[in-house]
Amino acid sequence: MLFKKSIPQLLAEANESGEGTLKRTLTSFNLVALGVGAIIGAGLFSLTGIAAADNAGPAVILSFIIAAVGCGFAGLCYAEFASMIPVAGSAYTYSYATMGEFMAWIIGWDLVLEYALSAATVASSWSQYFSQFLLEFGITFPSNLLHGPWEGGIINIPAIVIVCLLSLLLMKGTKDSSAVNNILVIVKVSVVLIFIVLGWSFINHANHHPFIPPNAGEEAVKAGTKGFFDFFSSEDFGHFGISGVLRGAGVVFFAFIGFDAVSTAAQEAKNPQKGMPIGIIGSLVVCTLLYVLFAYVMTGLENYTKFAGDAKPVATAFAQTGYTFLNRFLMIAILAGYTSVILVMLLGQSRVFYSMSKDGLLPKIFSDLHPKNQTPWKTNLMFMVFVSFFTGLVPVSDLGHMVSIGTLFAFSLVCIGVLILRKTDPDLERPFRTPWVPLIPILGVIVCVLMMASLPIVSWERLAIWMALGVIIYYTYSKKHSKIRNEYNAGLKS
Ligand code: ALA
Repeated sequence: MLFKKSIPQLLAEANESGEGTLKRTLTSFNLVALGVGAIIGAGLFSLTGIAAADNAGPAVILSFIIAAVGCGFAGLCYAEFASMIPVAGSAYTYSYATMGEFMAWIIGWDLVLEYALSAATVASSWSQYFSQFLLEFGITFPSNLLHGPWEGGIINIPAIVIVCLLSLLLMKGTKDSSAVNNILVIVKVSVVLIFIVLGWSFINHANHHPFIPPNAGEEAVKAGTKGFFDFFSSEDFGHFGISGVLRGAGVVFFAFIGFDAVSTAAQEAKNPQKGMPIGIIGSLVVCTLLYVLFAYVMTGLENYTKFAGDAKPVATAFAQTGYTFLNRFLMIAILAGYTSVILVMLLGQSRVFYSMSKDGLLPKIFSDLHPKNQTPWKTNLMFMVFVSFFTGLVPVSDLGHMVSIGTLFAFSLVCIGVLILRKTDPDLERPFRTPWVPLIPILGVIVCVLMMASLPIVSWERLAIWMALGVIIYYTYSKKHSKIRNEYNAGLKS
C-alpha cells in the first residue's frame, strides 16, 4: 500500500513541532527578495561565461530564456503546493502528501544534490573569485591549493574554509533577519545593474556574430552525411548549434536554482496564499530579466571564445569598459552574493534532512537540536564534512552538472505531483491554482527532461548511482523506521 501523509496531518504536525510558532513577518516584497537572494550567484557570474564559451556562444541568451521557461512551469506548480501546504520541507513534503513515502524519500535524497552540492559548487566558484580578489592586493594564492586533483591541484582550501565558516554560523543559529537578506540582495542586484548599465555603451556588436556558432555535426546531419544518433552520441553534440543552446540551457539552469527556497519560508509568510505565488514567480521574473540583459552585455563586451576556462569572466568582460577601478567593488559584491547562496543552500539542506529524520526515514541524529542554539547542529556538522569533501576535490563543472540534473529531477516530480493531487483530491482548497492543468505541468516535465537530456551522459550515470544508493538505504533503514508505517503496523492508524 501507499503510505501518504494527509494535508490536515501535515499542517497539524507543523504546529506540533513548534514550527507553527514562527512569526509571520515576511511580506510579498520580502519573499521576492528572499528568492532573488537565493537565486543570483555562481550560475550568473561564472556559468554564463562557461556556457557561452563551451556550448552556446552569444546565444547563451536563448539558453537563459529556455531555462527560465522550464523553471516558470515548475515554479507555477511549486506555487500551487506552497500556497496549499504552507509548511517547511518543500518538495519532500509535497511528495509525501501526493505520491507516498517512497517517492518522498527519493525526492528528499535527490534534494541533497540540489542543496548540498550547489553549496559545494558555489563555494568552489567563491574560491576562484577570492583568489582573484587577493591578486588585486598582490597576494598570489598557491594554485594547487585552489583546485582539486582532477584539475591539476591538490585541494581547494578557500572553498573548504568558507563552507566550514558558514556551517559553524548555522550551528550557532542564524537570526532570520530579512533585513540582512534585503541588504545582500540590494548589493547583489546593484552589481548586476552596474554591469549592465555601465557595460551597455561598450558593447561591440561584432561579438554577437555569429549569434549561434555553427556545429559541424548538425551541419552533417542536415546534409544527410551523418545519422542523428551518431551525432547525438558524438563529442559535437552540445558544442554550439541548436544542441549547444539546449545544453547551455541545462548548464545555466543552475543560475535559477533557489526559487524553490521561497517555498521553505512558507510558514513565515504573512499571507502565504498570496505571498507564495508572488514570491516564487516574482523572483523568477526579476532574475530572468536581469540574466538576459547581463548575458547580452557580457557576450557583447568580449568575444565568447575568450571566456574558455576563465574563472572570472565578469572581470574579463568588464575589462573592456573604462571602469576597471570598480573591479574591487564588483568582486566584493560577487563574493557577498555567493556567500548568501551558500548559506541558504546549507540551511535548506539541513531543513530537508531534519524533516526526513522527524518522519523516521533518517536516524534521529539528523533532527537532534542543540540544547541552547536550537539548531540541527549535528546535521550541519555532517554536511560541513560532506560538502567540504566535494568542494575541496571535485571540479566545479562536474558539480554544477550534478546539481542541475538532481534539481531538474525534483522539479519534474513536483509537476507530476500537481497532476496527481488534482486527480486524487480535486476539491481541496487551492488558494493558487496552476493555470492550464494538465498542460503546464506536462510542459514542465517535458522541458525539465529535455534539459536533463542535454546534460552529459556521465551526469545521468552519477544520478543513477546516487539514487541507487538512496534506494538501498530506503529498503535497509528508512522503510523499517518510518513513523507512519510503524504507527500503521501498530494498529494506531486505520
Ligand atoms: N542559483 C544559485 C547560483 O547561481 C545556486 O549560485
